[in-house]
Amino acid sequence: SRAIKPVASVAAQNGLKNFSTSSQKNFKVVVAGAAGGIGQPLALLLKQNKLVTRLALYDIAPVTPGVGVDLSHMDTPAKVTGHQGPDQLADAIKGADVVVIPAGVPRKPGMTRDDLFNTNASIVRDLAACVAKNSPKAIIAIITNPVNSMVPIASEVMKKAGVYDPNRILGVTTLDVVRAAAFIGEINGVDPQTVSIPVIGGHSGVTIIPLLSQSKPAVKLSDQGKIDALTKRIQEAGTEVVKAKAGGGSATLSMAYAGARLTGSVLRGLKGESNVVECAYIKSDLTEATYFANPVVLGKNGVEKNLGFGSLNDYEKQLLKAAIPELQKNIKTGEDFAKK
Ligand code: NAD
Ligand code: LMR
Repeated sequence: SRAIKPVASVAAQNGLKNFSTSSQKNFKVVVAGAAGGIGQPLALLLKQNKLVTRLALYDIAPVTPGVGVDLSHMDTPAKVTGHQGPDQLADAIKGADVVVIPAGVPRKPGMTRDDLFNTNASIVRDLAACVAKNSPKAIIAIITNPVNSMVPIASEVMKKAGVYDPNRILGVTTLDVVRAAAFIGEINGVDPQTVSIPVIGGHSGVTIIPLLSQSKPAVKLSDQGKIDALTKRIQEAGTEVVKAKAGGGSATLSMAYAGARLTGSVLRGLKGESNVVECAYIKSDLTEATYFANPVVLGKNGVEKNLGFGSLNDYEKQLLKAAIPELQKNIKTGEDFAKK
C-alpha cells in the first residue's frame, strides 16, 4: 500500500516552512559570530536542540567552515552549514527563524561594555541590515555588547528597511538571570535550577537590577547589607569573569549556556508552547527608558506579552532610579549611531 506522508514532512523535505495549523518543529537558527568564544560552545549546544533542524554558522574568521564540519559529525538531527565572510552572509541568513548574534569584540580588564561600542555598533548594524533584507521575520537575539545600545541599533535598521517588529528583537540578558539563580542557589543551599528570580533593566552595571524581593524561594539573607552585596555581585559578575580571565576575554561558556537557553525558549514559543517566560531586553513603555528588560512571554511571533516587573521594595526603587538615566543614555547612543 502507498504510504501517505503527512503534510509537514513533505514541506520539510522540500525545505519549505510548515504553514499548516499543526505546530512547527523544524527551525533554522543562525549564529552570527559562530567561531568566537561564545559562538562555538553556543553552536555546540544548539546542535543538541531537537527543534533545530538547520544550524547556519556565520563568522568572518577563516576557521568558520571547519567549525561547521566539526559540528556536522555530531549524531543529532540539525544540518550544519558554515559560512565565512560577508559574501556568504545572505546565504546563512535566508530562511532563518532565529538569528543569534554574539559577533563582536569582548572586554579586557579595565574596560566598560560601552568601550566596545565603536567596534561592535557597525557589526550589529550590518548583520541586522542583512536580516532585514533576507529574513525580515526572523527573531533577532542580540548578545553583542553593549546590549543596551545594540538593540536600539538593530531596531533602527529594521525601521529604515520598513520591516520593524519590536516583538522580534531581543537583547539577551539571560546570563544575569542564570548568575542570580546560581548565587541564590548557593546561599540558600538549594538546586539553582529551582530558583526563580527576575532580573530587570538592562545589561551593564547599575542597569542590571535583580529583584531579590521576588525570588522564589525567598533569599535567605538576614540584613540589608548582605542584600546590597549580593545585588552588586550580580551587577558586577561580568567584570568578575573579565578580571579572572586576566586579558583572555569575558564570559563565554556560561554565556553560551544562557544563550542556548534563551534560543531554546524562543523556539518553544515559536512552536506554540504556552507559558514560555524569559527575561529579555525589549522595546518597552513601562518606564522612561524606551527599551527595558523584564519577564516576557515568548510565543509564535516572538514577544507575545510583556509581564512587567511587579512591585518593588524601596531598595529596588532606588536601583531603578539609578538605572533609568544610564539606560536612556545608552539607548540614545545606539539610536544616534543608527540614524547617522
Ligand atoms: P570573541 O572575540 O571570542 O568572538 C567574537 C567573534 O565575532 C569572533 O569569532 C569574530 O571573528 C566574530 N566577528 C567579528 N566581527 C564579525 C562580523 N562582522 N561578522 C561576524 N562575526 C564577526 O568574543 P566573545 O567572547 O564570543 O564575545 C562576543 C560578544 O558577546 C562581545 O561583545 C561580548 O562583550 C558579548 N557578551 C555578551 C554577554 C551578554 O550577557 N549579553 C555575555 C558575554 C559576552
Ligand atoms: C557579561 O556579563 O559577562 C558580559 O556582558 C561580558 C562582559 O563584558 O562582562
